[in-house]
Amino acid sequence: MTTPSAADDRTARAPVRVRLRPTMQSDLEYVLSIESDPVNLPFITPWERTQHEAAIRFPDFRHFIIEGGEGLASVGFLILIGCRSPHQSLELKRMVVQAKGGGFGRAALRVAKKVAFDDLGAHRFWLDVKTHNTRAKALYDGEGFVVEGTLRESVRSGRGFESLIVMSMLRSEFAARRGQGLELVA
Ligand SMILES: CC(C)(COP(=O)(O)OP(=O)(O)OC[C@H]1O[C@@H](n2cnc3c(N)ncnc32)[C@H](O)[C@@H]1OP(=O)(O)O)[C@@H](O)C(=O)NCCC(=O)NCCS
Repeated sequence: MTTPSAADDRTARAPVRVRLRPTMQSDLEYVLSIESDPVNLPFITPWERTQHEAAIRFPDFRHFIIEGGEGLASVGFLILIGCRSPHQSLELKRMVVQAKGGGFGRAALRVAKKVAFDDLGAHRFWLDVKTHNTRAKALYDGEGFVVEGTLRESVRSGRGFESLIVMSMLRSEFAARRGQGLELVA
């Protein structure tokens, strides 16, 4: 019998508690400030305020503040796209957690999967991640997302042309993980 690794243990147990609540206009200063923080900028393509405002309003989008920690303070935000997709293919467009390494990202991703599959009827939940974003890639790997392929040199930034890895999870894979107790939320 093999001994479970520390990573297996972290994956199987319920993550720290987070809550997703709809983003309001009054949250946008916070959203824009962490999006433009130099620690996050290399990993995302920031939006204008008007794009966030549209994402709050459009029925095809869900824009959430991630709340966690003592007193459920704001710890980040995430955006889902394709919520009205006839193909039931939802995208995790963006996730930013400001207090890194504390488990909020994993916890928020678990809740986002639950929202996507249980509440929004997703058949496929997908995302892309820059090849150099090893932290996010490790999180998505650990949370059961499957690599579909690489969009080579598909975004241009101050770093030059960067490649994106496309990853996804299907409803059947989510159900199997849930059956194995890998989709616990706090
Ligand atoms: C990616 C991000 C959302 C993850 O959130 P987080 O709260 O920092 O992550 P967690 O603490 O839940 O850690 C989840 C996993 O990430 C990986 N990870 C965490 N810190 C890491 C580090 N310093 N280096 C490499 N991997 C790391 C580990 O696999 C970890 O799992 P483990 O704790 O079981 O080892 C967050 O770091 C972030 O906002 N980064 C900048 C923006 C970004 O990259 N967004 C995603 C774009 S696709």
